[in-house]
Amino acid sequence: MKRRVAILISGRGSNMAAIARACLDGSINAGVNVVISDRPGVPGLTTARDLGIETRIVPWQSARGRQAFERALGEALEALRPDVIALAGFMRILSAPFVERYAGRMLNIHPSLLPKYRGLHTHRCALAAADLEHGASVHFVTAELDAGPVVLQSRVAVLPQDTEADLSARVQATEHIIYPKVIGWLASGRLGWREGGVWLDGRPLETPMREDFRANVAT
Ligand code: GRF
Repeated sequence: MKRRVAILISGRGSNMAAIARACLDGSINAGVNVVISDRPGVPGLTTARDLGIETRIVPWQSARGRQAFERALGEALEALRPDVIALAGFMRILSAPFVERYAGRMLNIHPSLLPKYRGLHTHRCALAAADLEHGASVHFVTAELDAGPVVLQSRVAVLPQDTEADLSARVQATEHIIYPKVIGWLASGRLGWREGGVWLDGRPLETPMREDFRANVAT
């Protein structure tokens, strides 16, 4: 039976679309059952609907706080029984108890070579540090922000004339390749997080897998 994937977004949803397309074209043996956004009216919701995916809005209301938000989000997820939950540009920080409920089933993509540059403005940080390479990381979600075990990273070159937008676009093109790949591994049971460590194809993954896109400077 096809594994069920839920994707949480807050904005454009280009990673969500890449995952959904990989499911639709059969490169991943899974289906995206729902796309949930904490913000109404974002472009990712329209993209999801155009792809024929059910969408839900679980609005963040600061007056009601995180507990109420997580209760509503938890109810939406329970009803859909996802095997995999993919955070894809989802801009809310989830509490430890919430994240722990989905340990080993929840993935995130972060635009840096973690553990470098957790949090926001990663491309700006890489440029300010004059890094020669940068990239994105797909990791299991833990209570600590952007600190869960990393499964796969993409490496891209940083070019001398790069603006933040150039670098962001180059990294994003690779996100759309590595994120569906890791979701496919998790959905097919090749990847797991157990006994305190990440396992891929029956072996412990001591260091993150890396895919090198540095020769690919056109993107
Ligand atoms: C991506 O760059 C991802 O790494 C970060 O948020 C961005 C989301 O972009 N977590 P999109 O909504 O998938 O287009």
